[in-house]
Amino acid sequence: MFPVAIKENIYWVGAIDWNIRDFHGYSTYKGTTYNAYLILDEKITLVDTVKYPFRGELLNNIRQLIDPAKIDYLIVNHVEMDHAGSIQEVVNLVKPEKIFCSAMGHKTMLAYNFPADYPYEVVKTGQTISLGKKTVQFIETRMLHWPDSMFSYLPQDKLLISSDAFGEHWATNERFDDQVDMAELMAHAAKYYANILLLYSPLVQKLLADVQQMGLDIDMIAPDHGLIWRSNPQAIIQAYDRWSRQETAQKAVVIYDTMWHSTEKMAHAIVEGLTRENISTRLMSLKANHRSEIMTEVLDAKAIICGSSTLNNNMLPTMADILTYMKGLKPVDRIAAAFGSYGWSGEAVGQINQYLEEMKFTLASPGIKVLYGPSAADLQQCLELGRQIGRQIKEQ
Ligand code: FEO
Repeated sequence: MFPVAIKENIYWVGAIDWNIRDFHGYSTYKGTTYNAYLILDEKITLVDTVKYPFRGELLNNIRQLIDPAKIDYLIVNHVEMDHAGSIQEVVNLVKPEKIFCSAMGHKTMLAYNFPADYPYEVVKTGQTISLGKKTVQFIETRMLHWPDSMFSYLPQDKLLISSDAFGEHWATNERFDDQVDMAELMAHAAKYYANILLLYSPLVQKLLADVQQMGLDIDMIAPDHGLIWRSNPQAIIQAYDRWSRQETAQKAVVIYDTMWHSTEKMAHAIVEGLTRENISTRLMSLKANHRSEIMTEVLDAKAIICGSSTLNNNMLPTMADILTYMKGLKPVDRIAAAFGSYGWSGEAVGQINQYLEEMKFTLASPGIKVLYGPSAADLQQCLELGRQIGRQIKEQ
Protein backbone atom coordinates (compact mmCIF):
# COMPACT_ATOMS: atom_id res chain seq x y z
CA MET A 1 0.00 0.00 0.00
CA PHE A 2 0.93 3.64 0.23
CA PRO A 3 0.22 6.37 2.78
CA VAL A 4 -3.19 7.98 2.48
CA ALA A 5 -3.73 11.61 3.50
CA ILE A 6 -6.68 11.84 5.89
CA LYS A 7 -6.19 15.48 6.94
CA GLU A 8 -3.59 18.09 6.12
CA ASN A 9 -0.22 16.59 7.18
CA ILE A 10 -1.88 13.53 8.74
CA TYR A 11 -1.58 10.17 6.99
CA TRP A 12 -2.88 6.63 7.35
CA VAL A 13 0.25 4.46 7.34
CA GLY A 14 -1.23 1.15 8.52
CA ALA A 15 -1.50 -2.33 7.03
CA ILE A 16 -4.20 -4.48 5.47
CA ASP A 17 -4.53 -8.09 6.65
CA TRP A 18 -6.59 -9.58 3.83
CA ASN A 19 -6.29 -13.20 4.92
CA ILE A 20 -6.84 -13.32 8.67
CA ARG A 21 -9.88 -15.50 9.35
CA ASP A 22 -9.82 -15.84 13.15
CA PHE A 23 -9.27 -12.91 15.49
CA HIS A 24 -9.14 -14.45 18.97
CA GLY A 25 -12.32 -16.42 18.30
CA TYR A 26 -14.03 -13.83 16.09
CA SER A 27 -14.60 -14.90 12.48
CA THR A 28 -12.91 -12.23 10.36
CA TYR A 29 -14.17 -13.69 7.10
CA LYS A 30 -13.28 -10.51 5.23
CA GLY A 31 -9.98 -9.84 7.01
CA THR A 32 -9.09 -6.65 8.88
CA THR A 33 -6.77 -3.67 8.88
CA TYR A 34 -4.35 -2.35 11.48
CA ASN A 35 -4.49 1.41 11.17
CA ALA A 36 -1.63 3.64 12.27
CA TYR A 37 -1.38 7.36 11.69
CA LEU A 38 1.57 9.65 11.03
CA ILE A 39 1.33 13.33 11.94
CA LEU A 40 3.82 15.62 10.22
CA ASP A 41 4.49 18.66 12.39
CA GLU A 42 7.44 20.15 14.21
CA LYS A 43 7.32 17.02 16.34
CA ILE A 44 6.68 14.16 13.91
CA THR A 45 4.38 11.74 15.65
CA LEU A 46 3.35 8.16 14.96
CA VAL A 47 0.06 7.08 16.53
CA ASP A 48 0.08 3.31 17.14
CA THR A 49 1.91 0.62 15.20
CA VAL A 50 0.63 -2.62 13.64
CA LYS A 51 0.62 -6.37 14.25
CA TYR A 52 4.20 -7.70 14.13
CA PRO A 53 4.09 -9.52 10.74
CA PHE A 54 3.00 -6.23 9.13
CA ARG A 55 5.81 -4.03 10.47
CA GLY A 56 7.42 -3.92 7.01
CA GLU A 57 4.23 -2.45 5.51
CA LEU A 58 4.07 0.17 8.24
CA LEU A 59 7.68 1.22 7.76
CA ASN A 60 7.36 1.17 3.99
CA ASN A 61 4.39 3.53 4.22
CA ILE A 62 6.26 5.84 6.57
CA ARG A 63 9.36 5.83 4.32
CA GLN A 64 7.26 7.11 1.41
CA LEU A 65 6.73 10.27 3.50
CA ILE A 66 9.79 10.66 5.72
CA ASP A 67 12.82 8.82 7.03
CA PRO A 68 11.37 6.90 10.06
CA ALA A 69 14.39 8.06 12.10
CA LYS A 70 12.84 11.54 12.01
CA ILE A 71 9.86 10.46 14.13
CA ASP A 72 9.99 12.32 17.45
CA TYR A 73 6.99 10.98 19.32
CA LEU A 74 5.19 7.67 19.48
CA ILE A 75 1.66 7.62 20.90
CA VAL A 76 0.51 4.22 22.14
CA ASN A 77 -3.27 4.34 22.36
CA HIS A 78 -3.56 0.60 23.04
CA VAL A 79 -1.14 -2.17 23.95
CA GLU A 80 -2.95 -5.19 22.49
CA MET A 81 -0.54 -6.87 20.10
CA ASP A 82 -2.51 -6.07 16.93
CA HIS A 83 -1.40 -2.44 17.52
CA ALA A 84 1.61 -2.71 19.78
CA GLY A 85 3.25 -5.76 18.18
CA SER A 86 5.73 -3.63 16.21
CA ILE A 87 6.55 -1.10 18.92
CA GLN A 88 9.91 -2.57 19.85
CA GLU A 89 11.04 -2.73 16.20
CA VAL A 90 9.86 0.82 15.63
CA VAL A 91 11.48 2.15 18.80
CA ASN A 92 14.78 0.45 17.97
CA LEU A 93 14.74 2.09 14.55
CA VAL A 94 13.30 5.47 15.45
CA LYS A 95 14.62 6.04 18.97
CA PRO A 96 11.74 8.41 19.76
CA GLU A 97 12.18 11.27 22.16
CA LYS A 98 8.96 10.33 23.97
CA ILE A 99 6.45 7.49 24.07
CA PHE A 100 3.05 8.70 25.29
CA CYS A 101 0.73 6.20 26.93
CA SER A 102 -1.78 5.91 29.76
CA ALA A 103 -0.67 4.76 33.22
CA MET A 104 -2.20 1.36 32.49
CA GLY A 105 -0.51 1.38 29.09
CA HIS A 106 2.83 1.84 30.81
CA LYS A 107 2.12 -1.01 33.22
CA THR A 108 0.96 -3.25 30.39
CA MET A 109 4.02 -2.58 28.24
CA LEU A 110 6.28 -3.44 31.17
CA ALA A 111 4.25 -6.60 31.79
CA TYR A 112 4.82 -7.47 28.14
CA ASN A 113 8.54 -7.13 28.93
CA PHE A 114 9.13 -3.95 26.94
CA PRO A 115 12.37 -2.30 28.13
CA ALA A 116 11.87 -0.23 31.28
CA ASP A 117 14.23 2.46 30.03
CA TYR A 118 12.11 3.50 27.07
CA PRO A 119 11.24 7.24 27.24
CA TYR A 120 7.69 6.63 28.49
CA GLU A 121 5.57 9.65 29.33
CA VAL A 122 2.34 8.80 31.11
CA VAL A 123 -0.64 10.98 30.23
CA LYS A 124 -4.14 11.38 31.65
CA THR A 125 -7.54 12.39 30.34
CA GLY A 126 -7.56 16.06 29.34
CA GLN A 127 -3.79 16.32 29.09
CA THR A 128 -2.57 18.02 25.93
CA ILE A 129 0.75 17.99 24.12
CA SER A 130 1.90 20.37 21.41
CA LEU A 131 3.38 19.00 18.22
CA GLY A 132 3.98 22.48 16.79
CA LYS A 133 0.96 23.70 14.86
CA LYS A 134 -1.15 20.78 16.02
CA THR A 135 -1.99 19.64 19.52
CA VAL A 136 -3.08 16.24 20.79
CA GLN A 137 -5.46 15.83 23.69
CA PHE A 138 -5.64 12.44 25.40
CA ILE A 139 -8.80 10.76 26.66
CA GLU A 140 -8.44 7.56 28.66
CA THR A 141 -11.01 4.97 27.61
CA ARG A 142 -10.52 2.20 30.14
CA MET A 143 -11.76 -1.21 28.95
CA LEU A 144 -12.51 0.09 25.45
CA HIS A 145 -10.95 -2.27 24.72
CA TRP A 146 -8.40 -2.93 27.49
CA PRO A 147 -7.56 -1.06 30.71
CA ASP A 148 -4.77 0.80 28.88
CA SER A 149 -6.87 2.11 25.97
CA MET A 150 -7.08 5.80 25.17
CA PHE A 151 -8.15 8.18 22.38
CA SER A 152 -6.03 10.91 20.82
CA TYR A 153 -7.97 14.01 19.77
CA LEU A 154 -6.55 16.69 17.46
CA PRO A 155 -8.70 19.81 17.92
CA GLN A 156 -7.26 21.81 15.01
CA ASP A 157 -8.22 18.98 12.68
CA LYS A 158 -11.43 17.97 14.51
CA LEU A 159 -9.99 14.46 14.33
CA LEU A 160 -10.57 11.72 16.89
CA ILE A 161 -8.13 8.80 16.63
CA SER A 162 -10.22 6.27 18.49
CA SER A 163 -8.14 3.10 18.83
CA ASP A 164 -10.42 0.02 18.82
CA ALA A 165 -13.67 1.97 19.29
CA PHE A 166 -15.78 2.69 16.19
CA GLY A 167 -13.82 0.13 14.14
CA GLU A 168 -14.65 -2.85 11.99
CA HIS A 169 -12.83 -5.99 10.98
CA TRP A 170 -13.03 -5.51 7.24
CA ALA A 171 -10.07 -5.52 4.87
CA THR A 172 -10.55 -3.03 2.05
CA ASN A 173 -8.25 -0.89 -0.04
CA GLU A 174 -10.72 1.93 0.44
CA ARG A 175 -9.91 3.98 3.52
CA PHE A 176 -13.04 6.09 4.04
CA ASP A 177 -16.68 5.39 4.89
CA ASP A 178 -17.98 7.21 1.79
CA GLN A 179 -16.00 4.91 -0.51
CA VAL A 180 -17.82 1.73 0.52
CA ASP A 181 -21.38 0.48 0.84
CA MET A 182 -22.81 2.06 3.99
CA ALA A 183 -25.08 -0.90 4.79
CA GLU A 184 -22.17 -3.33 4.64
CA LEU A 185 -20.00 -0.96 6.67
CA MET A 186 -22.62 -0.69 9.41
CA ALA A 187 -23.09 -4.48 9.40
CA HIS A 188 -19.35 -4.96 10.02
CA ALA A 189 -19.41 -2.26 12.71
CA ALA A 190 -22.36 -3.97 14.42
CA LYS A 191 -20.59 -7.32 14.35
CA TYR A 192 -17.48 -5.71 15.84
CA TYR A 193 -19.51 -4.06 18.61
CA ALA A 194 -21.45 -7.25 19.39
CA ASN A 195 -18.33 -9.38 19.64
CA ILE A 196 -15.81 -7.00 21.20
CA LEU A 197 -17.48 -4.17 23.04
CA LEU A 198 -20.99 -5.28 24.04
CA LEU A 199 -19.92 -6.22 27.56
CA TYR A 200 -18.53 -2.74 28.08
CA SER A 201 -21.79 -1.02 27.07
CA PRO A 202 -22.17 0.91 30.36
CA LEU A 203 -18.65 2.33 29.82
CA VAL A 204 -19.53 3.24 26.23
CA GLN A 205 -22.56 5.15 27.51
CA LYS A 206 -20.35 7.00 30.00
CA LEU A 207 -17.72 7.73 27.38
CA LEU A 208 -20.28 9.16 24.95
CA ALA A 209 -21.64 11.39 27.73
CA ASP A 210 -18.12 12.48 28.73
CA VAL A 211 -17.15 13.29 25.14
CA GLN A 212 -20.31 15.36 24.76
CA GLN A 213 -19.58 17.16 28.02
CA MET A 214 -16.01 17.88 26.91
CA GLY A 215 -17.53 19.59 23.88
CA LEU A 216 -15.15 17.95 21.43
CA ASP A 217 -15.76 19.12 17.91
CA ILE A 218 -15.35 15.99 15.79
CA ASP A 219 -15.70 15.80 12.03
CA MET A 220 -13.61 12.66 11.49
CA ILE A 221 -13.16 9.46 13.49
CA ALA A 222 -10.12 7.37 12.64
CA PRO A 223 -10.23 3.98 14.36
CA ASP A 224 -7.44 1.40 14.46
CA HIS A 225 -9.43 -1.13 12.41
CA GLY A 226 -11.38 -0.72 9.20
CA LEU A 227 -12.69 2.44 7.60
CA ILE A 228 -12.20 6.07 8.64
CA TRP A 229 -15.47 7.90 9.32
CA ARG A 230 -15.04 10.98 7.11
CA SER A 231 -18.57 11.65 5.88
CA ASN A 232 -20.67 9.99 8.55
CA PRO A 233 -18.98 10.17 11.96
CA GLN A 234 -22.35 10.85 13.55
CA ALA A 235 -23.73 7.61 12.08
CA ILE A 236 -21.32 5.48 14.07
CA ILE A 237 -21.67 7.62 17.22
CA GLN A 238 -25.45 7.22 17.07
CA ALA A 239 -25.13 3.49 16.44
CA TYR A 240 -22.83 3.13 19.47
CA ASP A 241 -25.39 5.00 21.54
CA ARG A 242 -28.11 2.58 20.38
CA TRP A 243 -26.02 -0.57 20.77
CA SER A 244 -24.70 0.43 24.17
CA ARG A 245 -28.23 1.05 25.41
CA GLN A 246 -28.83 -2.55 24.27
CA GLU A 247 -31.89 -1.42 22.34
CA THR A 248 -33.59 -4.43 20.78
CA ALA A 249 -36.01 -4.96 17.90
CA GLN A 250 -39.06 -7.20 17.61
CA LYS A 251 -36.72 -10.00 16.69
CA ALA A 252 -35.85 -13.49 17.90
CA VAL A 253 -32.85 -15.76 17.41
CA VAL A 254 -33.33 -19.51 17.64
CA ILE A 255 -29.95 -21.16 18.16
CA TYR A 256 -29.66 -24.94 18.10
CA ASP A 257 -27.60 -28.04 17.51
CA THR A 258 -29.02 -31.47 16.89
CA MET A 259 -27.87 -35.09 16.67
CA TRP A 260 -30.63 -36.87 14.73
CA HIS A 261 -32.84 -33.89 13.77
CA SER A 262 -35.32 -34.13 16.69
CA THR A 263 -34.12 -30.87 18.27
CA GLU A 264 -33.99 -29.38 14.79
CA LYS A 265 -37.67 -30.21 14.22
CA MET A 266 -38.48 -28.49 17.51
CA ALA A 267 -36.48 -25.43 16.41
CA HIS A 268 -38.45 -25.21 13.17
CA ALA A 269 -41.75 -25.43 15.07
CA ILE A 270 -40.69 -22.58 17.39
CA VAL A 271 -39.73 -20.48 14.38
CA GLU A 272 -43.15 -21.25 12.88
CA GLY A 273 -44.82 -19.88 16.03
CA LEU A 274 -42.70 -16.73 16.00
CA THR A 275 -43.38 -16.23 12.31
CA ARG A 276 -47.14 -16.51 12.88
CA GLU A 277 -46.73 -13.62 15.35
CA ASN A 278 -44.85 -11.62 12.68
CA ILE A 279 -41.61 -11.61 14.63
CA SER A 280 -38.45 -11.25 12.58
CA THR A 281 -36.60 -14.48 13.38
CA ARG A 282 -33.20 -15.97 12.61
CA LEU A 283 -32.84 -19.77 12.79
CA MET A 284 -29.16 -20.47 13.42
CA SER A 285 -27.70 -23.95 13.43
CA LEU A 286 -24.48 -24.18 15.38
CA LYS A 287 -23.14 -26.44 12.64
CA ALA A 288 -23.68 -23.73 10.02
CA ASN A 289 -22.98 -20.48 11.89
CA HIS A 290 -19.87 -19.19 13.60
CA ARG A 291 -20.35 -17.97 17.16
CA SER A 292 -19.49 -14.40 16.14
CA GLU A 293 -22.22 -14.39 13.47
CA ILE A 294 -24.70 -15.57 16.08
CA MET A 295 -23.64 -12.82 18.52
CA THR A 296 -24.16 -10.26 15.78
CA GLU A 297 -27.80 -11.35 15.49
CA VAL A 298 -28.15 -11.43 19.29
CA LEU A 299 -27.13 -7.74 19.41
CA ASP A 300 -30.62 -6.47 18.61
CA ALA A 301 -32.75 -9.59 19.28
CA LYS A 302 -35.28 -9.36 22.10
CA ALA A 303 -35.63 -13.13 22.42
CA ILE A 304 -32.92 -15.78 22.50
CA ILE A 305 -34.12 -19.37 22.31
CA CYS A 306 -31.59 -22.18 22.62
CA GLY A 307 -31.97 -25.87 21.79
CA SER A 308 -29.64 -28.82 22.24
CA SER A 309 -29.88 -32.58 22.34
CA THR A 310 -28.39 -34.25 25.40
CA LEU A 311 -25.07 -36.03 24.76
CA ASN A 312 -23.29 -37.94 27.51
CA ASN A 313 -25.37 -36.20 30.20
CA ASN A 314 -24.54 -32.76 28.85
CA MET A 315 -25.66 -30.22 26.30
CA LEU A 316 -23.81 -30.50 23.01
CA PRO A 317 -20.34 -28.88 23.13
CA THR A 318 -21.34 -26.36 20.45
CA MET A 319 -24.15 -25.07 22.70
CA ALA A 320 -21.78 -24.81 25.67
CA ASP A 321 -19.44 -22.82 23.41
CA ILE A 322 -22.01 -20.23 22.32
CA LEU A 323 -23.52 -19.87 25.80
CA THR A 324 -20.10 -19.35 27.37
CA TYR A 325 -19.23 -16.81 24.69
CA MET A 326 -22.58 -15.02 24.97
CA LYS A 327 -22.45 -14.89 28.76
CA GLY A 328 -19.06 -13.18 28.59
CA LEU A 329 -20.38 -10.53 26.22
CA LYS A 330 -23.25 -9.69 28.60
CA PRO A 331 -26.39 -9.09 26.55
CA VAL A 332 -29.08 -7.90 28.99
CA ASP A 333 -32.84 -7.77 29.32
CA ARG A 334 -33.78 -10.58 26.96
CA ILE A 335 -36.63 -13.09 26.85
CA ALA A 336 -35.29 -16.64 26.63
CA ALA A 337 -36.20 -20.31 26.55
CA ALA A 338 -34.54 -23.71 26.18
CA PHE A 339 -35.57 -26.85 24.34
CA GLY A 340 -34.11 -30.15 23.26
CA SER A 341 -34.53 -33.87 22.74
CA TYR A 342 -32.97 -36.63 24.81
CA GLY A 343 -32.84 -40.40 25.03
CA TRP A 344 -32.63 -41.25 28.74
CA SER A 345 -31.14 -38.59 31.05
CA GLY A 346 -31.99 -35.23 29.38
CA GLU A 347 -29.76 -32.73 31.18
CA ALA A 348 -29.30 -30.29 28.28
CA VAL A 349 -32.41 -28.14 28.84
CA GLY A 350 -31.66 -27.68 32.53
CA GLN A 351 -28.06 -26.77 31.77
CA ILE A 352 -29.11 -24.23 29.14
CA ASN A 353 -31.61 -22.74 31.58
CA GLN A 354 -28.83 -22.32 34.10
CA TYR A 355 -26.85 -20.18 31.63
CA LEU A 356 -29.95 -18.19 30.68
CA GLU A 357 -30.68 -17.51 34.35
CA GLU A 358 -27.07 -16.52 35.01
CA MET A 359 -27.48 -13.95 32.23
CA LYS A 360 -30.60 -12.74 34.09
CA PHE A 361 -32.80 -13.34 31.06
CA THR A 362 -36.55 -13.70 31.58
CA LEU A 363 -37.45 -17.35 31.00
CA ALA A 364 -40.61 -17.65 28.94
CA SER A 365 -41.01 -21.29 29.93
CA PRO A 366 -39.36 -23.95 32.11
CA GLY A 367 -38.17 -25.42 28.79
CA ILE A 368 -39.42 -28.16 26.50
CA LYS A 369 -37.82 -31.62 26.67
CA VAL A 370 -38.79 -34.32 24.21
CA LEU A 371 -38.00 -38.03 24.55
CA TYR A 372 -36.21 -39.23 21.38
CA GLY A 373 -38.42 -37.71 18.68
CA PRO A 374 -41.07 -34.98 18.87
CA SER A 375 -44.68 -36.09 18.42
CA ALA A 376 -47.25 -33.89 16.71
CA ALA A 377 -48.31 -32.73 20.18
CA ASP A 378 -44.70 -31.91 21.08
CA LEU A 379 -44.29 -29.86 17.92
CA GLN A 380 -47.54 -28.06 18.66
CA GLN A 381 -46.16 -27.23 22.11
CA CYS A 382 -43.02 -25.82 20.47
CA LEU A 383 -45.13 -23.80 18.05
CA GLU A 384 -47.15 -22.43 20.99
CA LEU A 385 -43.92 -21.51 22.78
CA GLY A 386 -42.87 -19.55 19.69
CA ARG A 387 -46.24 -17.78 19.61
CA GLN A 388 -46.09 -17.03 23.32
CA ILE A 389 -42.60 -15.54 23.02
CA GLY A 390 -43.76 -13.58 19.98
CA ARG A 391 -46.60 -12.06 22.01
CA GLN A 392 -44.21 -11.27 24.89
CA ILE A 393 -41.85 -9.51 22.47
CA LYS A 394 -44.68 -7.36 21.14
CA GLU A 395 -45.78 -6.43 24.67
CA GLN A 396 -42.34 -4.99 25.51
FE1 FEO B 1 -7.48 -3.98 18.04
FE2 FEO B 1 -7.94 -4.43 21.45
O1 FEO B 1 -7.01 -4.44 19.81
